[in-house]
Amino acid sequence: MSQETLSNLLHERRRFEPPAGLASRANVTADAYAEAERDPLAFWEKAAERLSWDTRWERVLDWDDAPFAKWFVGGRLNAAYNCVDRHVEAGRGDKVAYHWVGEPPGDTRDITYAELKDEVCRAANALVELGVKTGDRVAIYMPMIPETVIAMLACARIGAPHTVVFGGFSSQALVDRIHDCDARVVITADGGYRRGAPSALKPAVDAALRHCPDVRSVLVAKRTGQDVDWTEGRDVWWDDLVGRQSTEHTPEAFDAEHPLYVMYTSGTTGRPKGILHTTGGYLVGTSWTHWAVFDLKADEDVFWTAADIGWVTGHSYIVYGPLANGATSVMYEGTPDTPHKGRWWEIIQEQKVTILYCAPTAIRTFMKWGTDIPATFDLSSLRLIGSVGEPINPEAYIWYREAIGGGRCPVVDTWWQTETGQIMISPLPGVTAGKPGSAMKALPGVSALVVDEEGEPVGPGSGGYLVLTDPWPAMLRTIWGDDERYRETYWSRFPGRYFAGDGAKLDEDGDVWLLGRVDDVMNVAGHRLSTTEIESALVSHPKVAEAAVVGANDPETGQAVNAFVILRESAGDGGPDVVKELRDHVAKEIGPIAKPRAIMVVPELPKTRSGKIMRRLLRDVAEHREVGDVTTLADSSVMDLIKEKEGQAPAED
Ligand code: WT7
Repeated sequence: MSQETLSNLLHERRRFEPPAGLASRANVTADAYAEAERDPLAFWEKAAERLSWDTRWERVLDWDDAPFAKWFVGGRLNAAYNCVDRHVEAGRGDKVAYHWVGEPPGDTRDITYAELKDEVCRAANALVELGVKTGDRVAIYMPMIPETVIAMLACARIGAPHTVVFGGFSSQALVDRIHDCDARVVITADGGYRRGAPSALKPAVDAALRHCPDVRSVLVAKRTGQDVDWTEGRDVWWDDLVGRQSTEHTPEAFDAEHPLYVMYTSGTTGRPKGILHTTGGYLVGTSWTHWAVFDLKADEDVFWTAADIGWVTGHSYIVYGPLANGATSVMYEGTPDTPHKGRWWEIIQEQKVTILYCAPTAIRTFMKWGTDIPATFDLSSLRLIGSVGEPINPEAYIWYREAIGGGRCPVVDTWWQTETGQIMISPLPGVTAGKPGSAMKALPGVSALVVDEEGEPVGPGSGGYLVLTDPWPAMLRTIWGDDERYRETYWSRFPGRYFAGDGAKLDEDGDVWLLGRVDDVMNVAGHRLSTTEIESALVSHPKVAEAAVVGANDPETGQAVNAFVILRESAGDGGPDVVKELRDHVAKEIGPIAKPRAIMVVPELPKTRSGKIMRRLLRDVAEHREVGDVTTLADSSVMDLIKEKEGQAPAED
């Protein structure tokens, strides 16, 4: 596609109607909106009937103790049974659950539902042998390998909530999460393949566990064969322990509100929050949305969520949603540019992927690499493409639609969060038109509003804050161990309503446009990072006296972390490598994704008279703009000092 076509498209076609004929074939029709509006609980009840329950619920929703919800009250089910066994029992055991694709070319493995069932049963038996009981928490710190899914489902099968920690997080992050949810067992691997070489995971676990004396067992999957340190009596190889277990394991039905997992996410304060998801509602919400938003035809589709299982996107749309629907998914271990920049398109061609779901940051990167690369692959199997994680800019949307979707695939821009568990705002293929940059409409059964400061709904053409007015099945139930923080964070800004932390506007048609976070949370490459968390990490370095972090616009990653630090007097000028030292320090404290793109050493930080850092001004500097209004600064000359610094060599790499 030429630059000219792209810009013509940008200016002329701002609205894409659903392809002709799709409406009559789509899983969900336009009536669903009205149906759900008439009786939302009956609507979700119908969605729940798509699952297999040991005991049917007595009541769809108990909201008497709001904001603490109970969905499908009295219902009992087993999540792993729903994701695996029932498909095998229905005669679909030979169907592929995952086309797993390792990073080294040619390293692939297909796993059928029948094989998955055997492996999950074995792993469940192994966890029981390790003494894991219903309700115990298990931490999972793994690369993108089948054992990761097996480990999660094994936990779910025995009712032991898992907490998956993204393999890119540091050992310190692992320590914090293990402590917060008091996990006693860790499942990990020797390492994984990353950018063409084995990268290690086990050393980070070993380092973490020096601070976690309560962890008694570490189950280690072998992926790369690299040497690992071994703690006798604590560490056990997956192949040894899981390999010798029986493939029989009778799943027990758990209460619909039994905890399924805890996923940590950054908030506005230093400590990550453990978002708790429970069994019944989560499975209903993820399976229904996966079926509806992607218009899934389980017998035909090859579905690919190109995300890491360590994030909620992976939990809901690589693991629970697709498996509950009996879908075939692709799971890819590596990076998009290994061994070449066409790897994703090669995978789509080889595996005949029909639905691709990824983040705008990836799309922008591919756009930069050039249209020629995807153009050399056969992408004609694709029929639907989705986006998630951050606002998609219209240029990226159009490029995605044209260069990847061949102009024929509807694009679903899906808004949701770790907390919502399921997609909340998105077009429905065949039903809703698409507009580049808009997530369009709340799904049937979901009620979203854009409100002003006072909580009054704004009309078409206006902006404000996004709130959700009614509970939904996959909603978080609380913050692990901190009910008060749950209430305070989400339900207090607009009493009785869920405050998502996002700004949004309604266009003239009443369609929703997400505008990004309105709090101190950054969105870097579709990953949520807290400014305060990174500031705390910087200040924990002996050379740093004070730090301020802002998210500055970045053409590829959406936002990028920019830090401003004041060094301690004893640190002098910090030495020539101070910036590198501090960046590495942040990587060590949180993980490489949190590394500031740029760190500027400054003599002062801009503060109001009450001592609050004015991040708005720092963002102006980071985005190379004229600095805005400085009249509320305690000392307005501070910005001149910083601007002076900016003129000097930029501290980037
Ligand atoms: C935040 C949630 C949902 C899984 C991945 C991120 C932003 C997410 C969109 C979208 C605009 C989006 C929001 C949200 N976000 N999807 N389609 N359009 N913004 O999960 O880490 O919990 O982050 O991501 O700001 O609040 P998360």
